[in-house]
Amino acid sequence: MSRTLFVTTALPYANAPFHIGHMMEYIQADIWVRYQRLNGAEVHFVGADDAHGAPIMIAAEKAGLTPQEFVAGIASGRQAYLDGFGISFDNWHSTDSPENTELAQSIYLALDEAGLIDVREVEQFFDPVKAMFLPDRYIKGQCPRCGAADQYGDSCEVCGSVYAPTDLVNPYSALSGAVPELRSSEHFFFRLSDPRCVAFLEEWTQDGKLQPEVANKVREWFVRDEAGNPGLSDWDISRDAPYFGIEIPGVPGKYFYVWLDAPIGYLASLANLFAKRGEDVDAFLARPDVEQIHFIGKDIVYFHTLFWPAMLKFSGRKVPDNVFVHGFITVSEEKMSKSRGTGISPLRYLELGLNPDWLRYYIAAKLNSHVEDVDFTPDDFVTRVNSDLVGKYVNIAARLSGFLAKRFDGRLSTDLGEDGRELLAHLHSRVSVVGELYEEREFGKALREVMALADRVNEYVERHKPWNLAKAEGAELELHQTCSTGIEAFRVLTVLLAPVLPKVADQVAEFLQVPDFTWADATRPLGEHSIGRYAHLMQRIDPDVLAELFVPSPGGEPDPEPAAPEPPVEPGGEPVAEQITIDDFAKVDLRVARIVSAEAVEGARKLLRLVVDLGEGHTRQVFSGIAGSHDPADLVGRLTVVVANLAPRTMRFGISEGMILAAAHADEAANPGIFLLEADAGAAPGLRVH
Ligand code: 2FM
Ligand code: ZN
Repeated sequence: MSRTLFVTTALPYANAPFHIGHMMEYIQADIWVRYQRLNGAEVHFVGADDAHGAPIMIAAEKAGLTPQEFVAGIASGRQAYLDGFGISFDNWHSTDSPENTELAQSIYLALDEAGLIDVREVEQFFDPVKAMFLPDRYIKGQCPRCGAADQYGDSCEVCGSVYAPTDLVNPYSALSGAVPELRSSEHFFFRLSDPRCVAFLEEWTQDGKLQPEVANKVREWFVRDEAGNPGLSDWDISRDAPYFGIEIPGVPGKYFYVWLDAPIGYLASLANLFAKRGEDVDAFLARPDVEQIHFIGKDIVYFHTLFWPAMLKFSGRKVPDNVFVHGFITVSEEKMSKSRGTGISPLRYLELGLNPDWLRYYIAAKLNSHVEDVDFTPDDFVTRVNSDLVGKYVNIAARLSGFLAKRFDGRLSTDLGEDGRELLAHLHSRVSVVGELYEEREFGKALREVMALADRVNEYVERHKPWNLAKAEGAELELHQTCSTGIEAFRVLTVLLAPVLPKVADQVAEFLQVPDFTWADATRPLGEHSIGRYAHLMQRIDPDVLAELFVPSPGGEPDPEPAAPEPPVEPGGEPVAEQITIDDFAKVDLRVARIVSAEAVEGARKLLRLVVDLGEGHTRQVFSGIAGSHDPADLVGRLTVVVANLAPRTMRFGISEGMILAAAHADEAANPGIFLLEADAGAAPGLRVH
């Protein structure tokens, strides 16, 4: 019987664009989902923005926007990433939605009904200027252990100790600078320590479904401490107004803590999808055969293996069938920051024209079913993609299709000869092994298996040497058999790679003139068939283009993530920078310069090498990221403005001795164009700009 799956990825906070860590999780889940779909499963794959919480409320205030406007700005940027990397979500929604409000409130009421909600007085720091209780991260002060200044309310970055905000010496509000007051207010708690919850969770987490390392970690959380206190403590699920969130029904001024309504957003997104389709989501979730699977990172296991299943269970709902946990992604072993990610911007990757299937392949090749970190190393990326995808896989079709087109009008032979039949039989015998590996999320092993099969196909081609057969007398039959076998094998390999390489698989289906692939196609021979014209499927990675992913953006600081897509109320897509004094401005020495020469820079598509005259009696070399918008020939002779006292910067291509001034929108991808500043005719090189 075919499976019915409800699959989610963790909901990202709506306070920043996606970083490479998000894309890794989406790629992992998408490969698994695509495999299931190819195999005939009915999959409902959904995501959403995690919109609520104090940090987003505060960021919105800083930006001069309402929280709703702020998260809408972030949400509007999501689709470019999802489409760009072929992530096949059926729906993308938001936790700040009517569906989520209704679900969160009804789940809470059911938990209350079950006797699992407690109300207690809690003492917390209150900011008298902002008139709000302060989350731990917004209280700073001196570390109570080592005395370091400006430490957060939960832990010290200098000595590493962990403490309560009330332990800080000379605490102050990071929002207003005011000295916070201790105030007491009523908080609502979900009674995770209730014996019913503990018994259910011990069973749910330890019945063998979770990855062994996850189950072990969770087991530690059940252990009572030395004083005999239960390992699972009750969970504070309320926050006082002002808060951007969902109101607790019947308790004005109290809101659900963001982590209470965040996972409920999975159900809200599904409900939204079903409503769009006019289908009944409750009936769907009541079906015992529906499997509910969550892909998450290792930092949010506690929420997904304890709070979330317990919330669902005791509100009388379907509980998750599994939670698949992955590690983090590092770039050249460098740790990623949760908000900024790593030095790789997924959007920049796409803008540079790098193929999304390369990244999908590389990430898949490094993933297994364990909670292990994955490292992106540029050299390794180039080597692996070029040697596996281009050298072993695409090469098969590239070498053989021409002979089929020219000599046999694209018609495949149904007689493959003995060697061909043996090769295909071997490939068919490994299809279920590869399928099993996808099922278990052992993607690295699955791809190694597929590449071993590609090696065999290439050995077969080498053995038969079609390039010699094509020239030999009377070798027509063997040539036809060899090319037909090779193309048929290539088709099987494509099916096996289709979960990872959706874009390539679509192109191959067109080239082979076959309908969209299914997993069963891997073991079902094509028979009588003619293929279309081969169109170039994939090129090698050019290391110089890849290097641009790591080059600082035009004329400025390194730009690992593009600026958040701001709502249009910001001039040029970004808020005006912090105020400076006239003395600050005077430090920047701007001079009129004449462009003496301009030329493209090999290996850096965006850069131009300019030679400029600032009236100093010698010229300077300046690199500028304006190649996409300016023809070098049109620049020569123009008067522009240069930052003359900028410290020289050594780039891969030489030293840049200044910076040309040009204007661009903060979201350059959506608002293309770079506009060079120009001085009025008659200005002499060297004049200072005041
Ligand atoms: O850690 C995070 O980024 C959270 N926004 C994940 C939420 S997952 C789910 F619960 F919504
Ligand atoms: Zn300290």
